[in-house]
Amino acid sequence: MIFFPCLFSFLQEWRVWLEKDGHPISFWHDVPLYPDAANKRIVNFVVEIPRWEDGKIEIRRQEPLNPIFHDDRNSLPRFVESVFPLKSYPFLYGSIPQTWESPNFNHDFTNAPGDNDPIDLFDVGQDVGYIGQVKQVKILGALAPNDGGETDWKVLGIDVNDPIAPLVDDFEDLELYRPGLLKAYRDWFTYYKVARGGDLIPIVGETYQNSSYAASVVETGHAYWLDLVKGAVDTNTINYNQTSRPDIRESYVSRCEATLRLGLPAASDEKPAAPKLERFQQWFYLDSTLKLIEENVVV
Ligand SMILES: *[C@@H]1O[C@H](CO)[C@@H](O)[C@H](O)[C@H]1NC(C)=O
Ligand SMILES: *[C@@H]1O[C@H](CO)[C@@H](O)[C@H](O)[C@H]1NC(C)=O
Repeated sequence: MIFFPCLFSFLQEWRVWLEKDGHPISFWHDVPLYPDAANKRIVNFVVEIPRWEDGKIEIRRQEPLNPIFHDDRNSLPRFVESVFPLKSYPFLYGSIPQTWESPNFNHDFTNAPGDNDPIDLFDVGQDVGYIGQVKQVKILGALAPNDGGETDWKVLGIDVNDPIAPLVDDFEDLELYRPGLLKAYRDWFTYYKVARGGDLIPIVGETYQNSSYAASVVETGHAYWLDLVKGAVDTNTINYNQTSRPDIRESYVSRCEATLRLGLPAASDEKPAAPKLERFQQWFYLDSTLKLIEENVVV
């Protein structure tokens, strides 16, 4: 593998901020959870990884206003391995604003603490999306992976503008229009870390939870988030500065002052995310017991 030195500094500094009326706001704390407070089945969704992208790009917990960044390990940008027959992230992947998987206690359904992130969502709509896009999605269900002892809900949603969105209200309805999708994506969440030497990830309850249960998980996650931004609980190094709730004094920063007070760049300088590393151009193959077939791996 050949690397260009510029990649490193480039990688560490690459950020995407969200702006409202010319001032920065937080993807996590300032985008409202519900576009319409009366309908808890439709939520706003922040796209971190557009469909068919490979980079592990996500909201950064510990920075003011939580910009999106490219996660790294050992000074290299992280990417997902393409496991045959699926390629890259096969759906749009991101998080639900104003929710929190609280790590402070074991949750009822999973009997494990949360992973300290906003709740993740995968959108199975046809639009490819782009990094930092805010979409409206309909909740169809959810999977509850236990990733290394942590609860890491993956809510299944579909863009409200997708052609089949009006025809599907629960995960099972997808089978008619997108046969095989439910199983393929459930399996993907169990094995996607195997190619990098990780374990299979068990799904609590084995299969999808229904849309009403998924909506209640999101609603509960919203209550945990509110405790977080109020400073009422252990915040686990999350920077919870926000620009939308002046009633919550400790975490509120006015939008007009945010750039200066939080030391954010005053002007934008648009650059693409880090290019994919050579290792991630190959297919990875698993055997029938979901073990990596090492003979295929080009090092
Ligand atoms: C949805 O799932 C919950 C939890 O498993 C269950 O209690 C409820 O009856 C289900 N609702 C429907 C409509 O199937
Ligand atoms: C807000 O951001 C500043 C600057 O990073 C930090 O010192 C402070 O702890 C943050 N406050 C909250 C409530 O996250």
